[in-house]
Amino acid sequence: MRRVIIAGNWKMYKTIDESIELVNLLKRSVVDIDDVEIVVCPPFTSLSDVRESIMDTNIKLGAQDCYWEKEGAFTGEVSCAMLKSAGCEYVIIGHSERRQFFGETNEMVNKKAKAALREGLKPIVCVGEKLDDRRAGKTFDVVKDHVVNSLSGLTREDMMKVVIAYEPVWAIGTGVVATKDQAEEVHKYIRGLLKDMYDANIADSVRIQYGGSVKPENIRELIAEEDVDGALVGGASLKADSFTQIIKGCL
Ligand code: PGA
Repeated sequence: MRRVIIAGNWKMYKTIDESIELVNLLKRSVVDIDDVEIVVCPPFTSLSDVRESIMDTNIKLGAQDCYWEKEGAFTGEVSCAMLKSAGCEYVIIGHSERRQFFGETNEMVNKKAKAALREGLKPIVCVGEKLDDRRAGKTFDVVKDHVVNSLSGLTREDMMKVVIAYEPVWAIGTGVVATKDQAEEVHKYIRGLLKDMYDANIADSVRIQYGGSVKPENIRELIAEEDVDGALVGGASLKADSFTQIIKGCL
């Protein structure tokens, strides 16, 4: 059985004080939940303080990005060892905003995923097509390109630690959620790719999150789909109330 994983991607929101306030509210409202793995991904500046607040709770910590070198003259970058030392267990890699606004390629995503795994972090690798791709009937081609090349060279053992987030770019921050059928179709396709790249055991074990305008109102029908194993939540993770409702919607 794949354990449901709900991760909140706070993006470039929340000062340190605001982060602590949010996570303190959240930890009280999800205190009894064991059946869902809960992850928050605050901005780098809030990681250490959020870690303090969630110590000994059922909430785990993730970062939103990393760099692949161990250390060095790379101004502005943050290494996986630094994230690990800040208390992260997860790191989001290749989010569409990184691909779109910061020129991240599959090759870079692949290097980051490998660096994260080397350091003992679990990568949440994001894939997904743009609206033009979907309109042109290229959804599967784009998703295949992202999956195959972002995960290139990862071993079966690595894959047991990887989470894939399918995030159609047209659904991110737009309020337009993919229908449950649209999500399931691509999730099933990704699982098929994993079977071809690895084997049936890996395909059955890797968790695939859906991301893009996930809200308390739509989580139940998405999570009911066979191949949807959780969600990567942006906007609705910025309020304890809506994020809690999303988590509870998976129970
Ligand atoms: P959204 O963002 O929930 O605000 O659409 C999702 C994401 O970018 O991970």
